[in-house]
Amino acid sequence: MRGLFITLEGPEGAGKTTNRAYLAEQLQAQGFRVTLTREPGGTALAEQIREILLAPHDEPMAVDTELLLMFAARAQHLAQVIVPALAEGHIVICDRFTDATYAYQGGGRGLDCSRIAVLEHFVQGDLRPDLTLLFDLPVAAGLARAAARGQLDRFEQEQQNFFEAVRQAYLQRAKNDPERFRLVDAQLSLPEVQKSLDIYLKEIMERAGEH
Ligand code: TMP
Repeated sequence: MRGLFITLEGPEGAGKTTNRAYLAEQLQAQGFRVTLTREPGGTALAEQIREILLAPHDEPMAVDTELLLMFAARAQHLAQVIVPALAEGHIVICDRFTDATYAYQGGGRGLDCSRIAVLEHFVQGDLRPDLTLLFDLPVAAGLARAAARGQLDRFEQEQQNFFEAVRQAYLQRAKNDPERFRLVDAQLSLPEVQKSLDIYLKEIMERAGEH
């Protein structure tokens, strides 16, 4: 028995954290077993790697270091949380996964996607998300929301053009894989966003029921 692997993607300030809780609650209320997790992080060790990745450092982090740490955290997270939960038939909702690597390290940092693909295969084998909800909103709106939350992490301190590239990379991936991606207009009000999520929740429940 294999569960269902759902990932949530999008830029800073897109409301993923609020909405991932909504998705989990709705699914649990219908009796589905849900594992709610996030990247980078999701285990004690991977959360330590997250701290290294997000904290601003005096020493600049090489782009390859950033890429490898993302996948190091992911390998730990897969081994400890995602793979066992899927094997038990859970719906795994993961706040960010490898699409974020393509968007941030590929789009934002300008890394060649073929290098990311090598690590994706190395760390994940054939495992890919079953469904990905992409929370999309204009960069300025997302950054304003992120700034309102307080201190900016190492990524949030990037310039607008970095986030424009991230957004475009996400949208391009969604365009290239419409089977897997569902677009959420994150500019809408929370009740409106949740109304659009209800449609995808129905789809998730149907697909989880089939597994
Ligand atoms: P968040 O989980 O609070 O949104 O922040 C995580 C940050 O890490 C966010 O700025 C995106 C970034 N990130 C990457 O650059 N690559 C990745 O593969 C992942 C999972 C996250």
